[in-house]
Formats: sequence, structure tokens, C-alpha cells
Amino acid sequence: MTMNWKSKALLSLTIPGLITIFQACNHQPESANAVYEQKADSIIKLMTLEEKIGQLSLFTSDWDVTGPVMNNNYIELIKEGKAGAIFNAYTVDYVRKLQKVAVEESRLHIPLIFGYDVIHGHRTIFPIPLAQACSWDLESIEHSEQIAADEATAEGINWTYAPMVDITRDPRWGRVMEGAGEDTWLGSQISATRVKGFQGDNLAANNTLLACVKHFAAYGAPEAGRDYNTVDMSMQTLFGNYLPPYKAAVDAGVGSVMTSFNEINGTPSTSNAWLLNNILRKQWGFSGFVVTDYTSINELIPHGVAADSADAGKLAINAGVDMDMQGNIYNKFLASLVKQGKVSEKTIDEAVKRILVAKYKLGLFSDPYRYCSIEREKTEIMTPEHMTFARKFAARSCVLLKNKNNILPLSSSVKSIAVIGPLADAKQEMLGSWSAAGDGNKCISLLEGVKNALSPNTKIIYEKGCDINDNSTANIAKAVSAARSAQVVILALGESRDMSGEAASRSNIDLPGVQQMLAEAVVKANPNTAIVLFNGRPLTLTNLDAIAPAILEAWFGGTEAGNGVADVLFGKYNPSGRLTMTFPRNMGQIPIYYNHKNTGRPVDPSKVEKYKSKYIDCSNDPLYPFGYGLSYTTFDYSNVVLDKNEYTANDTIVARVSVMNSGKVNGEEVIQLYVRDVVGEVTRPVLELKGFKKVFIPAGQSVTVTFTLTPNDLKYYHSNMDYSWDPGVFEIHIGPNSAQTKMARFTLK
Ligand code: BGC
Repeated sequence: MTMNWKSKALLSLTIPGLITIFQACNHQPESANAVYEQKADSIIKLMTLEEKIGQLSLFTSDWDVTGPVMNNNYIELIKEGKAGAIFNAYTVDYVRKLQKVAVEESRLHIPLIFGYDVIHGHRTIFPIPLAQACSWDLESIEHSEQIAADEATAEGINWTYAPMVDITRDPRWGRVMEGAGEDTWLGSQISATRVKGFQGDNLAANNTLLACVKHFAAYGAPEAGRDYNTVDMSMQTLFGNYLPPYKAAVDAGVGSVMTSFNEINGTPSTSNAWLLNNILRKQWGFSGFVVTDYTSINELIPHGVAADSADAGKLAINAGVDMDMQGNIYNKFLASLVKQGKVSEKTIDEAVKRILVAKYKLGLFSDPYRYCSIEREKTEIMTPEHMTFARKFAARSCVLLKNKNNILPLSSSVKSIAVIGPLADAKQEMLGSWSAAGDGNKCISLLEGVKNALSPNTKIIYEKGCDINDNSTANIAKAVSAARSAQVVILALGESRDMSGEAASRSNIDLPGVQQMLAEAVVKANPNTAIVLFNGRPLTLTNLDAIAPAILEAWFGGTEAGNGVADVLFGKYNPSGRLTMTFPRNMGQIPIYYNHKNTGRPVDPSKVEKYKSKYIDCSNDPLYPFGYGLSYTTFDYSNVVLDKNEYTANDTIVARVSVMNSGKVNGEEVIQLYVRDVVGEVTRPVLELKGFKKVFIPAGQSVTVTFTLTPNDLKYYHSNMDYSWDPGVFEIHIGPNSAQTKMARFTLK
């Protein structure tokens, strides 16, 4: 007779009370939280203090490095009941092996949760999240998370450290690649969408993941764009601009929250009781569990708020942190803190309960191997459907920045083409940062994508030209002669994938190395050059824009990047991406974002006046504004029409605009609606995005779109932190980007 994990575990029981656990988990979990809480309580009663603390401890396996290298003997810890969850371990075999230790060799047989950074795909890698946001395509974003969940759960994972929803206004910060960009409203929509995509309707389904919104809070606002640096901001900015995307995830039912590394106004997030207990739990009603970021509790010491590790542990648990990621602080110090009366056992019990409830929700108590199906691992990874979707999504995430004389799309009947540049034949780079279990060898490079798109009769010449980031100009001459010998040139420039992501801030966001020099030489040799950029952040492209006939921002498109980008270059897909982060003209303009305040001395670009809020050596405008992106067709906007000029509290504000595709090819337009509150109790941004519609418009046709708003959409945080709207004059702006809108005014009474 073969024994399953439960029968083996039951045989090994020596405490009669333990039977309760199995009574509690012999059937499928009901949906009601209260039932899970009761079950969790019955387990907690049987636990020693050390076992409880074990549930609060998360350790990395040695499979992947996502933080400082630690040497934990995690298998031993699992056996001793000192680990409640493991991350960076995947594949059915390995997860099964570790889970078996937990449910058969630890005293209480409590299953582990398995976490991983499934950020933009698991094996099939999709465009980096910033690129996905530029698609303004919530449906595709959700679908990509469903696929990611499908693949990750087929390899044993049941918890992802995503979505990352940190708003950012500073492209120097390397982690801008991982979020949705600078806008709060759009970021909030995307945040909720990702949670829905990962978690689905049923966390216990074997193909959904428990999501973890991060990094709470305001991690995207480090001073000078330097990762992990200090965050200091007003309450209006924190609540109005930075917190809403985390709240949106909570409202969408996210199961866990990760604290951020940074401090906010003097208190690190990981010891911030106001943030975790008050805002997150009391005000927002979050009932899931809170995990730290990697060794964040330990970092309370260098932050200068904890004297030693024990002190750090005390601060974190009392602030509402349930799970210690990789720090081993809870395991080492919590028990004695309880014995000394510095931490109450009730606090520990509450944290344990939240984690056990998550395990019930995931269905792990009824089947700890629920996510360990060899069959699914064989059949659900990198399927043709996943790859087809990845290709489409890579194309949909591209943003066309410049297209002088309609040099793009290129004709696929071209006789000869030179594919040049350090990112042209760079499969590995296509993954971007945070690429989970993605395999660079399986990525399609741009060169391969171009070859796939053209007939074998086309002459394709490849030259690297230079490296991504060194000073050698030795190969530029070869690139120039390749450019001369071809009808058209595709020049692939940008960053390496490790130049963005965690701990990858740059103080200079120009094109690295000698790439600008390469571009100048190639464009001079052949003006029929289209530049394709692969990068993880906005770059300062003023010099490139000055010489380039065409620029396509392709970001890092993932596994199918090369095919997706080729679809755009050869006109199989008409680009529809729009920037969700402003591209500055130079580094001195940073931080730069569209929803800035007006100041008392706003500049009037048509006049030269000295005492205005401006630079004397550069305009205030960015190179490419938020919302910007071109198409192979053109769109003409009508004036904005409102259904009334005056509204009252219970009214709906209806705004209409007609958009005509005035070009020769079909295309999609992202019609954007912004609001300006002309007079506020505190100063208000010059524009705030409040809606968009992505619509397909056939050539020569026009569509009328309708937006509806209510006064609720006009609320903001007043000086006393009251969240309400004021009567007065408002402007509605509608257009193709934040710098090019048509406006109508109304009064709210
Ligand atoms: C990152 C998190 C990530 C964690 C686990 C940290 O260094 O900041 O975003 O989830 O590592 O890999």
C-alpha cells in the first residue's frame, strides 16, 4: 500500500490534539475567511512558540540569487519547523522534495508556500512591465499574468512577488522597468489588473498565484534616483500620488504586501506601524499578510532605528510585519523578545494566523502538492499559444518616437538590409531584468526576427559596430561600410539588461558607451536608417533624436522580442504604444513628469522673460511627453464637447470627442482624458490623467468616444488631509498625449 503524505504524517503523530489539523484539512477549504481563521486557530493552539515563529520565516533556496548571498541550510530549517515559506525554488521535482520535508519530517507537517519573482512571465517572458504599461492594453496585461501564473504554478510556485506598483518620476532609478511609470491613475488600473490576472477568482485553483503587491511604500521616489535611498515627501504627495496603486491592489483582493527598503519621512517601511497597522490594515481593511523585502529587518540597524538585531525584530513585528524574508531575525530573536515581554504572543499568533489562512486559501492543507503536477509541467510551459501571445504583446508594447518622411514601416521586398548595433544580435538581453526562469537562449533576437520576416532572397548583413558599454570605436568603420552597402539599415541600440532593475541606478542616462558615435556614423553613411532601442528606462535621447530619421522604442520585449519588433518594423503591426514615463531632454530636468504643479511663475514659452520658473539653458518641456507615441497613420481630434457647462454633486460629467483616422492605414489610438482643477484649496497639478480609451479606427473612418466622470474623480487631499472635491472651475483635456490636448471648461457647483 502506498501512503500519501497525510497517512504518513498521521502515523508519526504523538500529540492527540494534532488530529484536529487533519480534520481541519480533510476537505476542500471553504471560501469564507472565518472558516480558515477557525482552522488556523486550532493549529495555533498546538504550536510551540518556536514553531509559530517558524511560520513567520521565509528563506531563499540556493537556486537563484535575488539579494545578498546567504548560506542558510534551508532544508534543515524546514525539518525543524523553522521555515514557513521558501522562495527561489521551482520545478516540480524540487518543490515536491522540499514540500515533502515540510509535511513529512517537520513535527506539525504544515505545508510550505513557494514564492518567486514572477514579474513579467515565468518561462515565456513578456515585455518588461514598463513596456507593458506603454501598451495601455489592460486586457493583454491581465492575460500575460494569467499565462505567467499558469506556467509558474506548473512548476511548483504558488506565490509571486508582484505586482510592483511603485510610482516613479526619476528615470535614473533602475527599477522603473518593473513598474507602470509615472502616473498614479494608470498605475492603479494596472495594479488591480495584474492582481486579477495572477489570482483569478479562486486562489485554490492549481493555476493561480497568490500575488504580493510591492514595495510598500513609495520605494519609487528615492532621492536622486539612487536605489534604496531616502524618501521624503509631503502627505499630499504620498497619499495623492504614491499610495493609490497599492490601495488599488488591496481593493482588488491582493493576498500579501511586501514592505519596501526605504524610509519615508524618517521611518523605514519595515518598522512603520503607522503605514502597516494603521493605513494598510485599519484604513484600507487589508486582511492578508505582510512580508518584508530581502533582509529589510536586518537593515533597520544601518538605517539607524534599531540598536541591534533583536531590537530590529521587535520593531518589525510590532509594526505589523508578519514574515521575515531571509533575515533570520524572527527565528533568532522573537522567542526571547516574547519571554522578555517586549513582544506579545498575541501579536505572533495574529501573524501566524494570517499566514496559515493564506495556506488554506491556496488549498495547501488539502493537498500540499497541488502545484506539483509533472503533467502540467510538461504541457503548459512555453506553449505555442503563449509564444504567439508573447509576440503580439512585444509588438503592442513598442512606442514609435520618431518617423521622419515615414521611413517606417520598411518594405519587406527590400533587396538588402544591414542590421547593425550591439543589441541587434543579443538574445539574452531581450529578457530584460527580473526574468524569472526565462532562458535567454530561447529568445528571438532582432536579427532573427528580421530574418524571419524577410524572404531568403533578401541580403541581410549584420555588424555589431560596438559593444553596449565600452569605449572602443574599432568596429565602427565596418558598420559604416555595411550601412553603405545596404538599401536600408536597422540600427539596434540601448542598454544591457543589467543596466536597469534592482541596484542598477544610473547617474547618466545617455546611450552608453560609443553608441551615439556609432549612430552618427551609420546615419551619415545611410540616411535610410531606422533606430530600434532596447532599454529598461527612459534615456536622454536629444542627440539621437537630432540625427535619427526614425526611432522605435522597443524596451526589452521578452522571449519573442525579435519577432514582435520585426512585425512593427515591416508594418505587420501598426505601433500603438504610448509612453507612460516622460523622456527628459537632459539629466538636469529630472525629476520630470507631466502632472507637475504650475508654480507662481509659470513659464510662457512664447515669451522670453527672466523671472520665470525655467532653465536658462534648456526648455522646460521634455523631449517626449507622457502619453506620446506615433502611429503609421494620423489621427485628427474634434473639439471636446461636454453635455453641460455646469454640474452639481450628483451629476455625471459626460465628455465626447470624435477622432478621425486621416491616414492610409488602419490603426489604434490611445485617446487620453486629463483634468485640471483650476483653483484648489491647495495647489493642483496642471493635468491629471483620469481616463483613456484604446480604439481601433479603420483608415478614413472616425469614431466618437464618450468618457464619463463623477465629482468623485475630482477628489484630492486637502491641507487637513480631507479627501474631497471643491466646487469651482475645471478643465477637461482630451488628446493623443499630455502635451497636445483640446480643452473644454465646466463649473461644478
Ligand atoms: C527585491 C524584491 C524581490 C526580493 C525577492 C529583493 O531584493 O527588492 O522586489 O521580490 O528581492 O527576490
